[in-house]
Amino acid sequence: MDSAAWLKRDAASVWHPFTQHSLWLGDEPTVVDRAEGPWLFDVDGNRYLDGVSSLWVTTLGHRTPEIDAAIKAQLDRLDHSTFLGATHPPGIELAEKLLATAPFGDGPVLSKVFFAGDGSSAVEVALKMAYQRSVQTGRARPLFVHLREAYHGDTLGAVSVGGMELFHATYRPLLLKTLPVSSPGVRAAGQTPVDRAAEVVAELTALLHERGDEVCAIVVEPMVQAAAGMLTYHADFLRAARRLATEHGALLICDEVAAGVARTGRMWASEHAGVVPDLLTCGKGLTAGYLPLSAVLTTDEVYDTFLGTPASGRTFFHGHTFTANPLCCAAANAHLDLIASRGLVAQAAALGDRLDQLLAPLADDDRVVEVRRIGTMTGVEVRSVGERTGAAVCRAARGRGVWLRPLGDTVVLMPPLTLGRSETELMVSALIGAIDEAVR
Ligand SMILES: Cc1ncc(COP(=O)(O)O)c(C=O)c1O
Repeated sequence: MDSAAWLKRDAASVWHPFTQHSLWLGDEPTVVDRAEGPWLFDVDGNRYLDGVSSLWVTTLGHRTPEIDAAIKAQLDRLDHSTFLGATHPPGIELAEKLLATAPFGDGPVLSKVFFAGDGSSAVEVALKMAYQRSVQTGRARPLFVHLREAYHGDTLGAVSVGGMELFHATYRPLLLKTLPVSSPGVRAAGQTPVDRAAEVVAELTALLHERGDEVCAIVVEPMVQAAAGMLTYHADFLRAARRLATEHGALLICDEVAAGVARTGRMWASEHAGVVPDLLTCGKGLTAGYLPLSAVLTTDEVYDTFLGTPASGRTFFHGHTFTANPLCCAAANAHLDLIASRGLVAQAAALGDRLDQLLAPLADDDRVVEVRRIGTMTGVEVRSVGERTGAAVCRAARGRGVWLRPLGDTVVLMPPLTLGRSETELMVSALIGAIDEAVR
């Protein structure tokens, strides 16, 4: 069956995420049939370079033999077991491996892992833990501080600490009470990242001076607000958020769902600032893009406040049916082993440098507003020349054999960390050709 036939069936029965279905068929979506390494193949036999790692997850490309083997071996032992009242070796091993990679330095020591399913559910866990910890340490603090332009997922807690009006405004009446501060990634013309960080630190300082004793946590995407269009910001802001959280008795939640697991050229984006959060969320690339799994890393300081008798009310009443599914854990264990054995963090940093060189010609191109990058996370913001310019560029790139997806008018490049030299060149030259075609 060809794409047209599949799309007819799709349109008759499927509702896609983040999709305006009045435009769906007109955009001629790709009907993916199979994949290999960095390549996607559609049902018509066309091949596309997967330039966004299937939405930021396939860190090694598709169908990595070691991960295939780990999942198959796990399938032969244990498909699923609950994590309520039971445990299993792949879950225990994964917690140990994650903690062994965790950021460390002055301050908190990450020593416990709570598993969830998607990034959003990890964020829910972190928010509830932070609030409950405040209740258990003296006084309920019902407020979260978060950044404008933030994106932490689509469940209502995660939306509450989000700051993207397009996605979040509709749901405002349903949400938790929060205190937003400006985005350190949005700078006035000519303003330096250091100056912008200082400006937002001043705003955060003033806010906490006034309301700090009501705040249970400050929630941030460390170093880069990804879904807002790869808005990178200076490490000074993250360091100040860490210091101010401690000073005011609040926790720092670093949401590493997008930026964690080697994406930024460090295992964790928080490392760029030398910051250790009290709660660290991760997901997306954790299983190398094979299966849904997320996790929250936290400290004994937080964990210990949850200890008590059953009647004390200190239990963390949260969990999901598939928490720590063994197949997901097996994939993640194999992935973390490969990150270590293949030196993938350094490889990601080198790929980022290569992207920098290849994208350099766009810096002076008047069709490009800005190129933003940290490690392999790259956003090329193009000048708007009508509705959906970013989408038009991605479509033109697809015509050149490269599959990309925009965030508004920012075209994202987030390839597998292992992308080879010639494929990297192909990806960037297709992008530049697509800008030539679509931004006139
Ligand atoms: C920083 C961040 N947090 C959370 C999420 C939500 O993750 P998921 O889509 O797996 O629920 C995302 C998704 O893009 C994200 O970028």
